[in-house]
Amino acid sequence: MRVLVTGGAGFIGSEVCRQLVLRNHAQVVNFDKLTYAANLASLAPIEALSSYAFERHDICDREAVDFVFGAYEPSAVIHLAAESHVDRSITGSAAFISTNVLGTHTLLEAARRYYDQLPRLRRKQFRLIHVSTDEVYGSLGPADLFREETPYRPSSPYSASKAASDHLALAWFKTYGLPVIISNCSNNYGPYQFPEKLIPLTILNAIEHKRLPIYGDGSNVRDWLHVEDHAAGLIKLLSEGQPGEKYNFGGDSERTNLDVVTQICDVVDRLRPASAARRSLISYVPDRPGHDGRYAIDASKARRELGWQPTRTFEEGLVETVDWYLNSRAWWERARTGIYDGSRLGLLATQH
Ligand SMILES: NC(=O)c1ccc[n+]([C@@H]2O[C@H](COP(=O)([O-])OP(=O)(O)OC[C@H]3O[C@@H](n4cnc5c(N)ncnc54)[C@H](O)[C@@H]3O)[C@@H](O)[C@H]2O)c1
Repeated sequence: MRVLVTGGAGFIGSEVCRQLVLRNHAQVVNFDKLTYAANLASLAPIEALSSYAFERHDICDREAVDFVFGAYEPSAVIHLAAESHVDRSITGSAAFISTNVLGTHTLLEAARRYYDQLPRLRRKQFRLIHVSTDEVYGSLGPADLFREETPYRPSSPYSASKAASDHLALAWFKTYGLPVIISNCSNNYGPYQFPEKLIPLTILNAIEHKRLPIYGDGSNVRDWLHVEDHAAGLIKLLSEGQPGEKYNFGGDSERTNLDVVTQICDVVDRLRPASAARRSLISYVPDRPGHDGRYAIDASKARRELGWQPTRTFEEGLVETVDWYLNSRAWWERARTGIYDGSRLGLLATQH
């Protein structure tokens, strides 16, 4: 199996690359533009292996995508290249439309041309996994769950761009017969996540005794899934997923943002005791514009049809994650000092 992974220098993509090479003994080609969110150090465990190759290109560059298909002849694609941070999409949506919508279109067209000239047996095996988010479904009330058939109601420029790309991916299956599978996953956490998202940002601020911002009143609910479990699900889709189908992945771990932040405070206090409890660093800041209230996933289709399930509780995964950041300063220091210092993103200009 030779898998083309787009966005393989990012948080989830690098986990997919590591698992494919180390657990599944697959060949991997990592196609990544290396934006601010990428970190090639995440590939250190596999970078020297002959089963791993790296190609630095933009997913919007059709010639580059055609070149990589031709040079490596992959048997599958897992598409994770994207702009992924909601707050950044609020202040600058252009890169989200470009990479998430036009980039996905470029990939689909290049994949179609490649797929159409494959011999029959290789066409039968070929799959393109389009990796998406539960945010495309919009916001839930207190009781319901997102299911694969839940209508799309995206709220942010980020989720709207992902929704657009999901529609394109499904249309390329229906119209052209490209064997596309879509996954919609809840919030991921774990090692190697760029410290702009809630969990790594809170961990690093807590380690450094900085303010821990909570948007609004902290009551927004997210379902959390460990990145290793998500990546394992994506890899299962290659062999068990049905072309043209959607699969939801989630961790059955709904938590309010305030719960998540206070838990992190307590874990950091335990692992790195300090004179003042980290909870005293919590500070409430203006809410994110258009902030969705609650996300929760029904992942029963993935459990039933793929034989997939999460392997750890949120509490276990969080302790491991805090421990990883405490012991991986070399990985995050460059991001923290040179790329993003943790200051507030995503406020409308009129709110300044
Ligand atoms: N992080 C989550 O909680 C989560 C949850 C569900 C779904 N997803 C989806 O999973 C995918 C990966 O998310 P992530 O959190 O790993 O993102 P990330 O921001 O950590 O990584 C994205 C990667 O894509 C690369 N990239 C960006 N623009 C590119 C371009 N034009 N050409 C080539 N490469 C480009 C970046 O360099 C980076 O390495 C995204 O599609 C995201 O929507 C993420």
